[in-house]
Amino acid sequence: MKVEFVKAASDAAVVVVFVHEDRALTPAAKAYDKKTKGALARAINAGRFTGAKGQTLALTAPAGLDNPQILAVGLGAKGKAIEDLTLEAAAGAAYRAVATSGFTTLAYETEGLTSDQAARIGFASRLASYRFDKYRTTQKPEAKPSIDAIQVVTDAAPAAKKAYGPLSAVADGVFFTRDLVSEPANVLYPDEFAKRCKALEKLGLQVEVLTEAQMAKLGMRTLLAVGQGSSKESRLVVISWMGGTKTARPVAFVGKGVCFDSGGLSLKPPEGMEDMKWDMGGGGAVAGLMCALAGRKAKANVIGVIGLVENMPDGNAQRPGDVVVSMSGQTVEVLNTDAEGRLVLADALWYTQDRFKPKFMVDLATLTGAMIVALGNDFAGVFSNSDELSDGIMAASAATGERTWRMPLPDDYDRLIDAPTADVKNTSGRAGGSITAALFLQRFVNKTPWAHLDIAPVAWKKDSKVSTVPDGASGFGVRLLDRLVADRFEG
Ligand code: BES
Ligand code: MN
Ligand code: ZN
Repeated sequence: MKVEFVKAASDAAVVVVFVHEDRALTPAAKAYDKKTKGALARAINAGRFTGAKGQTLALTAPAGLDNPQILAVGLGAKGKAIEDLTLEAAAGAAYRAVATSGFTTLAYETEGLTSDQAARIGFASRLASYRFDKYRTTQKPEAKPSIDAIQVVTDAAPAAKKAYGPLSAVADGVFFTRDLVSEPANVLYPDEFAKRCKALEKLGLQVEVLTEAQMAKLGMRTLLAVGQGSSKESRLVVISWMGGTKTARPVAFVGKGVCFDSGGLSLKPPEGMEDMKWDMGGGGAVAGLMCALAGRKAKANVIGVIGLVENMPDGNAQRPGDVVVSMSGQTVEVLNTDAEGRLVLADALWYTQDRFKPKFMVDLATLTGAMIVALGNDFAGVFSNSDELSDGIMAASAATGERTWRMPLPDDYDRLIDAPTADVKNTSGRAGGSITAALFLQRFVNKTPWAHLDIAPVAWKKDSKVSTVPDGASGFGVRLLDRLVADRFEG
């Protein structure tokens, strides 16, 4: 969806104006109330619309106006400054309200708002407009999206357009992730994922793709063991963006890219197994993050590493009870082949730390169902050996609305993953399942400040209440970590 910033009052089909709680009209709303000789205020006063956050009220075919519809959208309480996330929620709600209305053009009137806020509105409407329709050959007319142009009307159009530049790059990154995560696993297997990353080189990123033979040489046997039951070859993708000072050590993001997780020989039940096409959500977020950073030419050195496998149960699959030597040299007893994400990350984390000596390292993974049990459907869990890094993630979380909650990594739980016949085992029963998974990862991290984000609860939304995140692939992690990088290196 194209977003334009224009100066003139709009002739769009739908004109959006914002209203604060207690029916307090913003300057733009007042202007349209005047144009309609008080009809907007009368409509607002007639019903339950109060201007609460995200509420909408449509005034259709008002006399005195060529635009077929005015859409009033609530901004909530009139505080000192309108918060970015409030504005995003309202702008996204407006888009949602008319997405399939039959109207084709949508314009936001922003009189009284700053150019940054106008840009923010464009960003939110674009995020809200995401769809993944490539495999539909027909669609019911009433379900077809009708809006095909979005305008933000502002006196400061050039400044707003400039402020929109980096936000638009972040939206591109979010969309890149959403596209990857939405793809079915018969289309998006490890090599295809790697190819789509390779295409990011056009943005100035450097992308390396390691084959199974190269990984075998490096000793990445826990990663390869996960993929050995699949007819698809495993891959490791390394993406780098060197936008900072030449000699500065980078930071690194590492993603779980299990393109399909059948469970392997520890086969999952059929119910809901289709969800496991999005078990590459962590890797997808890393790819989208790198896309965003390059798109907005971030002044930072950043490495993205994605471990790509398919977890399948054929005659060559790893068995429960197998002992595998990881790249770190530690031996792993694989008690459950469905606890595969940690096996992929063990080698990916070790490799990243060893090769790049990053200032800090953050991994993202749809790692455990237990994380959903613990936090519900709207928070990712944060596990970290560094208060500073974890605080930075929580701050980025508050700023972007990608919600996280810190979880414990207790030393005295570590014994729970001591194995019967090897150094470490990959499962330890139901109790604290997300914590023991994180403790497993920690055994493959040395002194590097590290955080693990278990994004199983948030990578895919089934009933999204956030207007900028449509149902389906959320793109969670791109905005959060883009912000973390910006706060650390560009603040
Ligand atoms: N990919 C799953 C975790 C998952 C479950 C993500 C549901 C998103 C939604 C992971 O590989 C897995 O299977 N974990 C097991 C671990 C268990 C075998 C110790 C789980 O959560 O049941
Ligand atoms: Mn699994
Ligand atoms: Zn998995």
